[in-house]
Amino acid sequence: MDINTKAPDSFEEPSLLGKLAVALDFDNDTKAMRIVDLLKDEVEVYKVGLELFTASGPDVVSKIIDRGKNVFVDLKLHDIPNTVFKAARVLGSLGAKLITAHSAGGSDMLRAAAEGFIEGRTYVGLDENCYCLGVSMLTSDPSFSQNLFLNRLEAIIESGINGMVCSGTDLSIASDKTADLFKVVPGIRPSGSPKGDQLRVTSPADAIKLGADLLVVGRPIIESSDPLAMVQTILESL
Ligand code: C5P
Repeated sequence: MDINTKAPDSFEEPSLLGKLAVALDFDNDTKAMRIVDLLKDEVEVYKVGLELFTASGPDVVSKIIDRGKNVFVDLKLHDIPNTVFKAARVLGSLGAKLITAHSAGGSDMLRAAAEGFIEGRTYVGLDENCYCLGVSMLTSDPSFSQNLFLNRLEAIIESGINGMVCSGTDLSIASDKTADLFKVVPGIRPSGSPKGDQLRVTSPADAIKLGADLLVVGRPIIESSDPLAMVQTILESL
């Protein structure tokens, strides 16, 4: 199956996703759904990561989709291509709109992730308008180097997948090569928010100026005393 990185449709829809994805980094779906219900008028994309998926599994993906929202399943798949293909196919069949695979797994593995993802979505009648994102380097990774980043970027481009995850500061590296990729940026810190374990952080407005298509924000929102007000502040700053 061809993975078309430049299908015109896949670049019309990002506006429907909005600019902000909230990371539901919780250990149960009651807490997660409380945040979805609180933010549903402002935020279209919710990220289910390792903690929530391990705690609640596919059920929480269905619950978010049932609210009419888009689910970004961020498991950073990294295994042999056959295993990644099958895991991504399951995620596609659950109706995920965005998934991640780790670029350290190489271009064949990334391609397998995208092919499995699309096959899974197609199986349940969903279209191919979705994003398989290659994680370049973790925003918390102290071993970051420009060379390693460029190697990972090469694998992402060679695989033909249509998106990547990187820090805001990395967006200026090789920006000519990433023009056609949907760029998702975590490590976002509004002024005054603690960095936590994130090393390479960017403000929401700076990340957008640098070319981010979608910002991922977790703790600054979900640990805020007023998550809705924090979301509104972030969106107004863009
Ligand atoms: O709480 P915080 O805003 O730091 O959350 C960032 C989210 O983005 C977490 O769920 C984390 O797993 C995810 N992420 C990241 N860096 C990457 C890829 C994903 O921080 N490179």
